Amino acid sequence: MKPVRTALIGCGKVGGLHAGALTTRPESTLVAVCDSSAERAERFAARYGGRAFRDVPQMIRESGAEAVFICTPHPLHAEPAVLAAQAGLHVLVEKPMAASLSDCDAMLGAAEKSGVRLSVMSQRRFYEPVQRIKAAIEGGKIGRPVLGVFLMFSWRDQAYYQSDPWRGKWDTEGGGVLVNQSPHQLDLLRWFMGDLEEISGRWANLNHPYIEVDDTAVAILKFRNGGLGSIVTSLSQKPGLFTKVHVHGSNGASIGVETDRGATFIAGVSKIAEPPLNDLWTIPGEEHLLAEFQATDRARFQAIDPIAHYHALQIQDFLQAIRVGRPPLVTGEAGRAVVEIFSAIYESNKNRSAVFLPLRES
Ligand SMILES: NC(=O)c1ccc[n+]([C@@H]2O[C@H](COP(=O)([O-])OP(=O)(O)OC[C@H]3O[C@@H](n4cnc5c(N)ncnc54)[C@H](O)[C@@H]3O)[C@@H](O)[C@H]2O)c1
Repeated sequence: MKPVRTALIGCGKVGGLHAGALTTRPESTLVAVCDSSAERAERFAARYGGRAFRDVPQMIRESGAEAVFICTPHPLHAEPAVLAAQAGLHVLVEKPMAASLSDCDAMLGAAEKSGVRLSVMSQRRFYEPVQRIKAAIEGGKIGRPVLGVFLMFSWRDQAYYQSDPWRGKWDTEGGGVLVNQSPHQLDLLRWFMGDLEEISGRWANLNHPYIEVDDTAVAILKFRNGGLGSIVTSLSQKPGLFTKVHVHGSNGASIGVETDRGATFIAGVSKIAEPPLNDLWTIPGEEHLLAEFQATDRARFQAIDPIAHYHALQIQDFLQAIRVGRPPLVTGEAGRAVVEIFSAIYESNKNRSAVFLPLRES
């Protein structure tokens, strides 16, 4: 396939992962890097190649890029995404898609009008244990998915929140654990269970007095398929324990993934400590597969750089989607659905009542 001319916006920590993939995948030629800090843009250009820009509109006009990869803080995803889509460039944004539904809708509208592809990072969908769960559900092996559970007991310290001025504040981050650390598993839960109908949620800041936003949230969920679910997500356990998504079926079978053991990784700072594994597999006649899955996944983990590997797989899927003319695995609509879930939890907490979806931003 002819490589896609790509450009990166946001030369920070996760930007390094994108630049790594965009300069090593044969589907990409990195032609530009852009950051509001000229020094960061120049540093990335020196390391990864491409022309350095400080200004997004100028980069869109002059770089010749066909697709942009947006790695700015979440409330700053929409503006460059809309500008790029309006100019006919395909767009992949980091997770969460945005901090508000109105930002998501602006991006979706611009992409639809221009006929470009829009995708949102959710690289854990490419984890083999996650793909197995999706395949088992689609293959009807658990009947209907009727109970979905997302649990995260993780940890972030004061140094993390002080590492960038935008972290931990409503204005510049849009939320806390729900917005920053939970989108991966919120996406998996919805991917496995289907769309949501009703959410009741509460959030709190249990032990991070130096940030404004939530470090813990809980929610009760009702899905459109009639199934139920729950969320307990927290950054208040020291050391971090685990992050899991479990799905229970109408035939009584249970399947699950531990996406993260210990604290979830911080891009550009910490590594994935332990392999993502299926931790639950009671499909009748397949119980013995759990040990085989775990052995395979442990062996693979030793052979790859897992953070770079799964980011690169999603970036490859997006670039192929552009050339082939098909939707990427993670669509803009899927990214919006995650923003809808955390927005509904915040709204439910504010109004002390259940929230019904679809949610419309007031
Ligand atoms: N998929 C993942 O696993 C993963 C991991 C880490 C971060 N992220 C996401 O990536 C995004 C960035 O996180 P990070 O940790 O790399 O942040 P960061 O602060 O390290 O990097 C952000 C960069 O964006 C630049 N920037 C800010 N405003 C800009 C603008 N208007 N135009 C151009 N550049 C601008 C900053 O100067 C900085 O270099 C966040 O949305 C975060 O949630 C995703």
